[in-house]
Amino acid sequence: MDDLREKYISLIAEAADEATLEDLRVQAVGKKGEVSLQMRELGRMSPEERQVAGPALNALKDEINSALAAKKQALGDAALDERLRSEWLDVTLPARIRRQGTIHPVSQVTEEVTAVFADMGFAVAEGPQIESDWYNFDALNIPGHHPARAEMDTFYMARAKDDDRPPHVLRTHTSPVQIRSMQEHGAPIRIIAPGRVYRADYDQTHTPMFHQVEGLAIDRDISMANLKWCLEEFVKAFFEVDDVELRFRASHFPFTEPSAEVDIRCSWEGGTLKVGEGDDWLEILGSGMVHPKVLEAGKIDPNEWQGFAFGLGIDRIAMLKYGIPDLRAFFDSDLRWLRHYGFASLDVPTLHGGLSR
Ligand code: DAH
Repeated sequence: MDDLREKYISLIAEAADEATLEDLRVQAVGKKGEVSLQMRELGRMSPEERQVAGPALNALKDEINSALAAKKQALGDAALDERLRSEWLDVTLPARIRRQGTIHPVSQVTEEVTAVFADMGFAVAEGPQIESDWYNFDALNIPGHHPARAEMDTFYMARAKDDDRPPHVLRTHTSPVQIRSMQEHGAPIRIIAPGRVYRADYDQTHTPMFHQVEGLAIDRDISMANLKWCLEEFVKAFFEVDDVELRFRASHFPFTEPSAEVDIRCSWEGGTLKVGEGDDWLEILGSGMVHPKVLEAGKIDPNEWQGFAFGLGIDRIAMLKYGIPDLRAFFDSDLRWLRHYGFASLDVPTLHGGLSR
């Protein structure tokens, strides 16, 4: 018994892990373990011998069991200590900068445009991207036979075969928001309406989905001079320069009279687009004085109120400001492009903090 005690107590003390401990338990006090086999011998002993050997064997069994339990506890504590040591973390260290998503140039520029016009008192309005042909065309003085309907390369929504109402369209411009805003708020009104628009067109400066921001200012005595001033102020603030050359070209839109298109001086040299220099012009917006019929469609009396409107290509001015040569890449979701042209998510554009830094 003393041999057994010495053997197992030292083996248990040396055990390096729980699996070894379990083997030792089976060898010593398991059903066929050495101590258990000794206990079976008790039956063959004389009663006197048994009285001595029985309690001694039980004590040995208890002693081995508690040595096993103590060692198991010690091994567990050591494992926990080791884990705590290896997973130790210094929470006072500064966070590691891991660049996550970036703000898309279209979102950034939309925010910038909004900041500039907000400063001039324009509120932001919205309208649906799936629009009735009345809002997209008729209310804007573009009747059914008008060539502008075809020129806009419109996407029409499907109708059920037996439904002969005119189909809805994917709005071809943000101008229908003019009508919705006039109907909702009446005059005077001063809004911009940024959003997605759709036309079947695809090349370096055209994609089937792109972005515009509509502007509308109606009051009793608003004139073309106010329009020109607003656009010049906008362009200076947006491009963050003192002077940018603009070209107002007489034009025609069904919803304005008179109408002007506005180009900005730029160069495409070496494949990079630069604003404010060179011999090229890039058209960035259409504008004019709101047509009386459009005011009427918006339930505003054209004898009392007048105003200007404009429609500006957001993607176009993003390309110009940030020197992005191809519009198609805007919508490819190429991570390398997004990392290169994207903006930090916490730099919110404001006039006082700087639009783009
Ligand atoms: N809706 C026109 C387009 O998409 C742009 C436009 C021109 C908007 C003149 C206007 C405007 O508000 O007055 O081409």
